Amino acid sequence: MPRRAQPAIAPDAVTGLPRRIPLSPPHLTGLEETALRGVLDSGWVAPAGPALAAFEDAVCAATGFRHVLATSSGTAALHLAYRVLGVEPGDEVWAPGFTFIATVAPAVQMGAVPRFLDVAPDSWTLDPDLLRRELAAAARRGRLPKVVVAVDIYGQASELDAILAACDRHGVPVLSDSAEGLGATIRGRRAGQGARLAAFSFNGNKIVTAGGGGALAGDDPILLGRARHLATQAKDPAPHYQHALTGHAYAMPSLLAAVGIAQLTALAARIAARRALFARYRAALGDLPGLAFMPEPAWGQATRWLSAILVDPARFGADREDVRRALAAAGAESRPVWKPLPDQPVFAGAPSAGGAVARGLFARGLCLPSGTAMTATEEARIVAAIRGCHRA
Ligand SMILES: Cc1ncc(COP(=O)(O)O)c(C=O)c1O
Repeated sequence: MPRRAQPAIAPDAVTGLPRRIPLSPPHLTGLEETALRGVLDSGWVAPAGPALAAFEDAVCAATGFRHVLATSSGTAALHLAYRVLGVEPGDEVWAPGFTFIATVAPAVQMGAVPRFLDVAPDSWTLDPDLLRRELAAAARRGRLPKVVVAVDIYGQASELDAILAACDRHGVPVLSDSAEGLGATIRGRRAGQGARLAAFSFNGNKIVTAGGGGALAGDDPILLGRARHLATQAKDPAPHYQHALTGHAYAMPSLLAAVGIAQLTALAARIAARRALFARYRAALGDLPGLAFMPEPAWGQATRWLSAILVDPARFGADREDVRRALAAAGAESRPVWKPLPDQPVFAGAPSAGGAVARGLFARGLCLPSGTAMTATEEARIVAAIRGCHRA
């Protein structure tokens, strides 16, 4: 394939500078302003009131869970989940090593011991066969984890039914970190459904955003009620301030909830647009030897929140970092896929099981710009930069 000339970088309308293409910027619907105006006019801007309740209803509808608590971030939702699941210092919390640090950070801060399991090559999510074997061995040792965390990755839901079956056998609760999974399905069920609790994120880079924020979801009203109590400083009923526990200031402000409601109306359209972008990347680059795309297993439909590729340097003639640098030179942000948590300095020496799959992904994987408001010219610039790296 001859090297193509790179299309010119279009100037930004405001700054006049070449427009940088971010990895996954917010894509506004046009409804946010009216929703915000409604909240401002009502005066309910704090973390209480009708917009918050409406956002929680909208998240129930989008996720299929019966109860939802809107939180100030996905990480806050995970922290509340660990608290209501009763994680204590010294407890083991098992999670895939191929994820963002926020999956386990709150548990570690609570004194839990993380143990990292490898992911399956067909989904890049927690390997259920490995989990089954590790749980059986842990049961024999008499030291089961307090919680197993299944994590959705780049819009691909984890194989939760197999994970639940493995954990149910030992009575271990499953928490689904679905921060990246909103809208994905597995065998017709929505991401996270079936887990004791699931955490979602609405931060600025997600498929829909509230400008920041998260949600904790579940079907058990008692667990969600305890999380709600903890999220608002664990105030006991009394005219004065009364606390049997220490809580958090983790509730979502209503202004963010208003943005989230507007954004959720576009969820189906955003999923279709992200999937279409992934398909266009594959059509434009799929012929290049040594360049592969994130797989989608037959049992699930991903949202393709981020389009991810694997670069095999021996066949492609350039490595992942060459591609990342070429994209940066073309004004486009890309990111290596997750560096495995067991290889992070903060987790040096943490126990783990397997890890070769996650390490192989990190050596070769790159997330491409995945915003749904990208122009055709910007897409062409990205494709040309990647094609330009290929050496026969
Ligand atoms: C897998 C995963 N878990 C947790 C989080 C934390 O979400 P938040 O940024 O809303 O705290 C994120 C995203 O940021 C994530 O990608």
